[in-house]
Amino acid sequence: MDKSKELAKAAEKVALNAYSPFSGFKVGAAIITESGEIFTGCNVENSSYGLTVCAERIALFNAVTAGHKKFSEIVIYTNTDKAFYPCGACRQVLAEFNPELEVTIICNNGKETINLQELLPKQFRL
Ligand code: THU
Repeated sequence: MDKSKELAKAAEKVALNAYSPFSGFKVGAAIITESGEIFTGCNVENSSYGLTVCAERIALFNAVTAGHKKFSEIVIYTNTDKAFYPCGACRQVLAEFNPELEVTIICNNGKETINLQELLPKQFRL
């Protein structure tokens, strides 16, 4: 299987693990390092709603925890007809590691790849 298929499959598969009893919304994310390793994340909600963490950040933090800091693409999957772009908080957190990350959104109606620079222009950087 080629890497982009593998990345898409990983995002779809991990969405099934979402813990989302409050929204009922399942998100899966898979991020690939420059060296070709894939890390995944799903959204994890909490009854104290503000403590919920998005799938994208969990995928990224999993990868960083494993020692990676260079990423080329993230795939975000939802089992929906509409495409969902990453929230603002996740855009900022992803931009920390690669402001030009490729962001691929997959839903039941297809997929779209968009550069993070377009999703979050003029991002905050120290
Ligand atoms: N969610 C994500 O996982 N990623 C996003 O980019 C936006 C929202 C999750 C958080 C919450 O569990 C549910 O989707 C509804 O907001």
